[in-house]
Amino acid sequence: MKNIVVLVSGGGTNLQALIDSEARGEIKNGKITCVISSNPEAYALERASKAGINTVVIPRKEYKDSVAYSKAILEELDNQKADLIVLAGFMTILDRCVTEKYPYRIINVHPALIPSFCGEGFYGLKVHEKALEYGVKVSGATIHFVNEEADAGAIILQGTVNIENDDTPEVLQKRIMENVEWKLLPKAVSLFCEDRISIRNGKAYVD
Ligand code: GAR
Repeated sequence: MKNIVVLVSGGGTNLQALIDSEARGEIKNGKITCVISSNPEAYALERASKAGINTVVIPRKEYKDSVAYSKAILEELDNQKADLIVLAGFMTILDRCVTEKYPYRIINVHPALIPSFCGEGFYGLKVHEKALEYGVKVSGATIHFVNEEADAGAIILQGTVNIENDDTPEVLQKRIMENVEWKLLPKAVSLFCEDRISIRNGKAYVD
């Protein structure tokens, strides 16, 4: 059974999707054992407690920079003996001290079709604002491995939604979450735990 540690910063609807999937027996060979939050006020912490999952708060504000923060996160990940780390709405870019220690063992959900609308500064609602501003006709979400470059690791799964003429960033965000993120993130986590993702030439394949 693989030990899953989930990192969060906010509302935690993706964490909830993982908790619900696990309860339905859809995360094969994996168990969420700890939720780490960068934000003491994150509603995600309540979701974890309600599900009986151990929580740890490591407030981003208490660290001078990303390197110092990442070192604290790394220490906790090691302490938790994480097999898989899931960034579920985690709003801090992790320094290479973490990504190098856990290659192909950190999964992120990004609310756009990478390589569009991604990288530094593209997070949360901002991503959907930019997609609408550009006028793209489809958007979606990407589940990918995390490496030392923001949103640039191997893509595991992607799914799309259509954009409607009267969409607002909030409406588009909700459509992408409901139709793509909440389905594909648990699916990718289960695939990882079942050892069904392989890496060839830096690309991820589901076997
Ligand atoms: C989700 O849409 C997630 O894809 C996005 O933030 C939202 C968090 O919602 N993540 C990023 O933008 C990371 N770059 P949640 O806290 O309800 O899961």
